Amino acid sequence: MSKLWGGRFQKQTNELVEEFTASIQFDQEFAEEDIEGSIAHVTMLQENGIITEEEMNQIKNGLLLILDRIQNGTFEYIVADEDIHMNIERALIEEIGPVGGKLHTGRSRNDQIATDMHLYLLRKTKGFIHLIEEVQKVILKQSEENVETILPGYTHLQRAQPVSFGHHLMAYFWMLERDKSRFQDSLKRISMSPLGAGALAGTTFSIDRSRTAELLHFDEVYPNSMDAVSDRDFILEFLSIASTLMVHISRLSEEMVIWSSQEFQYIELDDSFCTGSSIMPQKKNPDVPELLRAKTGRVYGNLFSLLTVLKGLPLAYNKDMQEDKEGMIDTVKTLDGTLRILAPMIESMVVKHENMKSSVQHDYSNATDIADYLVNQGATFREAHEIIGKIVLYGIEQNKYLLDLTIAEYQRFSPLFKEDIYDVLQPISVMNARNSYGGTSTSQVQKQIEYAKTFL
Ligand code: ARG
Repeated sequence: MSKLWGGRFQKQTNELVEEFTASIQFDQEFAEEDIEGSIAHVTMLQENGIITEEEMNQIKNGLLLILDRIQNGTFEYIVADEDIHMNIERALIEEIGPVGGKLHTGRSRNDQIATDMHLYLLRKTKGFIHLIEEVQKVILKQSEENVETILPGYTHLQRAQPVSFGHHLMAYFWMLERDKSRFQDSLKRISMSPLGAGALAGTTFSIDRSRTAELLHFDEVYPNSMDAVSDRDFILEFLSIASTLMVHISRLSEEMVIWSSQEFQYIELDDSFCTGSSIMPQKKNPDVPELLRAKTGRVYGNLFSLLTVLKGLPLAYNKDMQEDKEGMIDTVKTLDGTLRILAPMIESMVVKHENMKSSVQHDYSNATDIADYLVNQGATFREAHEIIGKIVLYGIEQNKYLLDLTIAEYQRFSPLFKEDIYDVLQPISVMNARNSYGGTSTSQVQKQIEYAKTFL
């Protein structure tokens, strides 16, 4: 098959080379954006007297026909036509005749592919902002229902201080809020039009780049044609935001795996979000959070891969840059699947309040509070820390928790102890005593939730 660029060549392309250099296998993902960009381009060409109205209409109608075929799955992609741009251009010329050859006036595939990807990521990023918000809503709902649910808070995965489960979950709300705001901020760098930069240096035709930018709803036009066709920062930024988002999702997933284990039994994932074992009949495996945790790896991988591809590339376009696509598309699909499954999984999980509460009744996580108690009675914090350390050791030896020790036992360690120590030591008092801004007390968590609502 003759090439659209075949004039300078005396030999056919080697078949292996055709297959190896083609991107149509994956850039067909941008078919709609490619046509949208072409329609804006011919509109501008006509408005500036570069093609006639008749020609513009023929091209537009041809493109819409092709779009139709693409959407109903009857368009045939051809590897020999290399990429989405030339597949569509060839089909256009076949459809409307030689006038289709005017579409590429004042344009190159280099500014064309950059435009396609800007349009694509703009659309996808807006979608992710929405999907993140759906997850936030579910987290907020579970948090509201669990403001008073007490469970151990951990540091080093050792019991530290009791916290509200609502408080614990809300930590993820804020992580997602930052991810959302990073995506929002990135929109201004995605919303830039490379179209009209040509291959690298601009074009001899009297085009109007602001007009195509306006038609495509871009906020800005790249001021430098070489930068316009070489910039892939907007994809790196997307992959980096996606990686951070996946860090958060993977941490939450890890907690869900731990919490649903037999050892913890803090939550139970809904049957519809778990799978069984082919051999062990008793098993109910948390495959979904496990896979979410694992998919984080491929998203990081895609970021590292593009960073590596771009490193050291001279200006302007290089074929290396074609390798920017698969990782980006894979990340888009991974994020989409991840965010869509996360919301209903969190929503349907059952919180086992009693088990959480029983944990805090069987540990020493109220120790800081007796230390604070002694400080209020006049001891320094260091003295108090030392005394309570000894009490905890004594408790462990006697097989007693802090609430089980008698007042006489307490007073052996310090005369400052009074009967009111037992009120201080109740898990609910311990939790509610942390009433500083952003703390875990019921009233602080309620305030936090109200504040969080203003972000949705
Ligand atoms: N398929 C190419 C890519 O994705 C489009 C741009 C091709 N430009 C070129 N001069 N070969 O990078």
